Amino acid sequence: MKLKLKIWRQKNSTSKGSIVNYNVDNISPDMSFLEMLDVLNSTLIKNDESPVSFDHDCREGICGSCSLYINGQAHGPDRAITTCQLHMRKFKDGDTIYIEPFRATSFPVIKDLVVDRSAFDRIQHAGGYISVNTSGNTQDANSIPINKTDADSAFDAATCIGCGACVATCKNSSAMLFVGAKVSQYALLPQGKVEAADRVVKMIDQMDLEGFGNCSNTGACEVECPKGISLDNIARMNRELMKSKVL
Ligand code: SF4
Ligand code: FES
Repeated sequence: MKLKLKIWRQKNSTSKGSIVNYNVDNISPDMSFLEMLDVLNSTLIKNDESPVSFDHDCREGICGSCSLYINGQAHGPDRAITTCQLHMRKFKDGDTIYIEPFRATSFPVIKDLVVDRSAFDRIQHAGGYISVNTSGNTQDANSIPINKTDADSAFDAATCIGCGACVATCKNSSAMLFVGAKVSQYALLPQGKVEAADRVVKMIDQMDLEGFGNCSNTGACEVECPKGISLDNIARMNRELMKSKVL
């Protein structure tokens, strides 16, 4: 396949960026999107030009670092996958592809397609710890029964990989799907209930401090989330916040 690429290039966080045109050739439909960028970068390096910076780590849909806006969609045109899981067979020979970083005030561009998502880390840090008694013998796992529905919902919430697609796709740059997932993964389990009231308040305070917008229920975040995190988690977060006010 031959492709025309229009890629956001930006030297650093303070410089002004712009879209730059590139052509790539010999792209196999079986390549991943990131492998296609690797091909482009090899050519740029051979020509003594600066390669395009983009984030990646696992390339298996686990780490959440490969966050690109492709033809106006977070993680590209496929559903329920990350950018590293997107294959070139989703495109046609001769296509023009626009590649931009995730855009949100709270995710400033560091270079080219790389954005700073440390705001997510600070929200998680604000959530703090869970109380676990570590003295004496290890507690038998079966001594704390957890019903299957709660265990499944907590697990589903915990699959959030912190990629930021929910923020990038939301017209308000809201982080509520991410924070809802992080609140839910603990709130549903007995081990997380001890600090639950404190945790939800601190995480929401930090989310606001980081400059993320509010949720206006468009549901775009749920559609673009590669892990299928449900809007139910936002509702649960709001219920947890209300509970914290009356306890
Ligand atoms: S909720 Fe989904 S889109 Fe948002 S950070 Fe988590 S995995 Fe990514
Ligand atoms: S590189 Fe880890 S999720 Fe894509």
